[in-house]
Amino acid sequence: MNTPRKTTNQPKIFTPGKIGSLTLRNRTIRAGCFEGLSPKAAPSDALIEHHRKIAAGGIGMTTVSYCAVSSDGVAFGNEIWMREEILPDLKRLTDAVHKEGAAASIQLGHCGFFANRSVIKKAPIGPSRKFCLFRYSICRVMTEEDIRRLREDFVKAARLAKRAGFDAVEIHAGHGYLLSQFLSPWTNQRKDKYGGSLENRLRFPVSVVKAVREAMGPGYPVLVKMNLEDGFKGGLTIDEAVKAAKAFESAGASALIPSCGFTARTSFYMMRGQVPIWEYVKSEKNPLTKMGMALFGRFIVREVPYKDLFLLGQSKRIKDAVKIPVIYIGGVCSVADMETAMREGFSFVQIGRALVRDPNIINQMQNGKTAAVDCDHCNRCVAEMAVSGVSCTSVTKGFRRKVYK
Ligand SMILES: Cc1cc2nc3c(=O)[nH]c(=O)nc-3n(C[C@H](O)[C@H](O)[C@H](O)COP(=O)(O)O)c2cc1C
Repeated sequence: MNTPRKTTNQPKIFTPGKIGSLTLRNRTIRAGCFEGLSPKAAPSDALIEHHRKIAAGGIGMTTVSYCAVSSDGVAFGNEIWMREEILPDLKRLTDAVHKEGAAASIQLGHCGFFANRSVIKKAPIGPSRKFCLFRYSICRVMTEEDIRRLREDFVKAARLAKRAGFDAVEIHAGHGYLLSQFLSPWTNQRKDKYGGSLENRLRFPVSVVKAVREAMGPGYPVLVKMNLEDGFKGGLTIDEAVKAAKAFESAGASALIPSCGFTARTSFYMMRGQVPIWEYVKSEKNPLTKMGMALFGRFIVREVPYKDLFLLGQSKRIKDAVKIPVIYIGGVCSVADMETAMREGFSFVQIGRALVRDPNIINQMQNGKTAAVDCDHCNRCVAEMAVSGVSCTSVTKGFRRKVYK
């Protein structure tokens, strides 16, 4: 598995790169993009084929997107939660990816206060009591016992992933998921040692990274996806994120992936581009949320214009603050984008929508057959996750492509 290719005269992006003790055949990584292909909260044949195709398309490492570390951390239906009984299916997935020469990573997280009550069948948990407009629910405040249990769930999930043959784990500490909720002053108003100062807000997320590192042993790649900013007043700022990055490095992270946004508040900030409100309304099953989306979606979900490499400037601040590899994410669509990220000192790039549009692009780019992907950032792939699994709807449904203005 993961055989490095011939490297002479290759752009740097197509040369092998190292994360911890793992060598990838090139510096491209498929970003965690929720697939919506796990109807039994376990990997399905469709999910395995989805990642096999990406691996066959030339990627260095593919990432199985958001998997909940425990049953109360499930954000959407069709989502994996990590438990012993799914080990054989996880193994089938990593075997399929390895056979195509790529490595496999898995994103582990907990969605905290925006868990879907109808899916988890109880009140969501979070750092502080908070109303979630996204779900029309109020969470229960986590006790010290919850914090200890959740940390252990992250460790158990990481151990299971390693046994299943995953070459890396990616801890989700961004996008307003639970660890990011602890980091953000908007969701964390605790008065104990887990709230208040940045040092306190970092305590739980950092302890998770530390515990996973200790359980995985030295060298095993533990990636941390974190926010470089939440994207609204009262959220985590870039100055705080720089300090958080250093803390994650000290806790044993092998690499960082700086991203941004808060799923329950600024859900498209991390992606930029169009907000496909009507596709969202159509895909929503909860009648109350559906009506709310139809009436107020345009006002609630902020649309932020897309541009290639939209996080480059801020991500450089994170990169300059740490010595471990930093993986660039956000608007990578061409070889030129990838090479810019390499020139700026990033060690790898993560690619989301460009690979949803065409899983074969890395081979095509490496063979000089294409230089860029024509994803128009309509973001209908995001709504499609909940309908029939993530896909580019202009490919799978023949939807007319829009030109982003
Ligand atoms: C369909 C879709 C699903 C996504 N699901 C996840 C997810 O499960 N976890 C995550 O961290 N980010 C998720 N993201 C965000 C991407 O990982 C990435 O941060 C974002 O799309 C920007 O990268 P890009 O410009 O290469 O698409 C998703 C993005 C898309 C388009």
